[in-house]
Amino acid sequence: MSHLRIYRDDTRPDVFEDHTTFETIRDAAAEANIRFERWDASQPLAEAATQADILTAYAEAITRLERDCGFATADVVSVSASTPNHPELRKKFLNEHTHSEDEARFFVEGSGLFCIHHGGAIYALECTKGDLINVPAGTRHWFDMGPSPRFVAIRLFTDPKGWIADFTGSDVAARFPRFEKAA
Ligand SMILES: [Fe+2]
Repeated sequence: MSHLRIYRDDTRPDVFEDHTTFETIRDAAAEANIRFERWDASQPLAEAATQADILTAYAEAITRLERDCGFATADVVSVSASTPNHPELRKKFLNEHTHSEDEARFFVEGSGLFCIHHGGAIYALECTKGDLINVPAGTRHWFDMGPSPRFVAIRLFTDPKGWIADFTGSDVAARFPRFEKAA
């Protein structure tokens, strides 16, 4: 189930807002300029589904997102506990960073934790199957897939060339619960 916990960024990490319903998560996330939507993620996917299979299964949703939101391309990121380098993949985006492009993800399986640093608060949003999240360009954030990851997400890009992590150098991410504590 999707879950949003909001912490102040300058104190010990006590939750001061806790949201578990779609509407309250959507509205609270919007305060941090995060777009949060529910999309149909009921397409059956075989265990061995390839990136092309997944893009085909969700072609209609992708076309709508590209048309309505200006995304130009899409691909798939799929990580599980059997992905050989998943500990390294996890570390890659575990510290606070920004991008010069939006970070948009549509979770079609599993879950992952996005933490957004905005206005003196940390918005820790656990996204699950059916969630669409858009983190705008320039927003400080980090992403945690956890020690035993399991997710398939469609990534949507306005320009994938601009999607490089620019790390802020802050240690703020280490002060807040990781996926396994937050979940
Ligand atoms: Fe990111």
